[in-house]
Amino acid sequence: MSNEFAGKTAVISGAAGGIGFALAEALAKQGMNIVMGDIDHIALAESGRVLREQGFDVLTCALDVTDYSQWEDIVANAKEKFGNVHMVINNAGVGGTPSKIEDSEHETWRWVMDVNVMGVLYGAQACVPAIKEHGEGGWVLNVASMAGMMGMPYAGAYCASKAAVVSMTESWVAELKHFKIHTSVLCPAFVKTRIHESYRNRQQKYAVAVDKRIDKEKLEAGAKAATMAVESGIPATLLAERVVEALKSKQTYIYTHPNYRQVTTERFKAIDNAFEDAEKSAVVGHLINDEIVTF
Ligand SMILES: NC(=O)c1ccc[n+]([C@@H]2O[C@H](COP(=O)([O-])OP(=O)(O)OC[C@H]3O[C@@H](n4cnc5c(N)ncnc54)[C@H](O)[C@@H]3O)[C@@H](O)[C@H]2O)c1
Repeated sequence: MSNEFAGKTAVISGAAGGIGFALAEALAKQGMNIVMGDIDHIALAESGRVLREQGFDVLTCALDVTDYSQWEDIVANAKEKFGNVHMVINNAGVGGTPSKIEDSEHETWRWVMDVNVMGVLYGAQACVPAIKEHGEGGWVLNVASMAGMMGMPYAGAYCASKAAVVSMTESWVAELKHFKIHTSVLCPAFVKTRIHESYRNRQQKYAVAVDKRIDKEKLEAGAKAATMAVESGIPATLLAERVVEALKSKQTYIYTHPNYRQVTTERFKAIDNAFEDAEKSAVVGHLINDEIVTF
């Protein structure tokens, strides 16, 4: 097979199921060597078996993305088996628990931030040097969400974590382009996976000491709504096809749900309008012609 992916190696976090597994399968079909990492060792073994049965050469490695040493191990194992590493897909993520501000559990916020934000940093930190070192170029793909492009009531932790992933990616695009490393961020709306059951992989270190949630009724209603939304989502296989298409045309922001355009249009319009207010301001309006400072 001759394409830009064939014979190259991708490390994918959260590859035992859902979006991660669909991406692993789609990129294996493009001829890539696949290294699958996941915290769920049983599901990982089964997913590895499914891909091997299709004739793909895959490596499965235990990986909790919140533990940097496990990222170092997965990169070392990937190099040992396949030689160079070309792509990292920072896909592992958790949905948290919908809750009101006053009921928010600090442990839940730390869990969501550690997996969804620090996990992405650690993945890049471990893989980018390995991609740089061979000079052939490659890819960093971070899985954010439409939730990174909009705030949602009762989902502050998840939205904040995904907005951080969008922002980190934008910073890395500029940083990595000199190394022929294409960096992109995937922002799907709902996809039919097990994201609404993320608690199944919650590590003991984030266990909630005391059940502080006050508004249980609202919590249950939120969980039910989230389940229905996820179950109405697009199939992960369709998303994976779209990602291959977008990577081939080197897109930076990868959308999978064109029907959500209005969400970003309205947000960007509101952000832009706020500048008009500042321009008219009696206090700061005179700064309009000052030079912009960047570094
Ligand atoms: N499903 C959706 O509607 C949707 C929409 C937008 C974005 N996303 C994002 O897509 C990504 C994949 O989620 P999904 O929908 O496939 O959910 P999923 O729960 O089906 O799959 C997530 C995978 O990540 C693994 N995982 C969880 N914690 C981990 C950790 N600490 N270390 C390593 N692996 C871990 C799980 O075991 C699982 O295999 C997430 O980042 C999620 O936020 C999902």
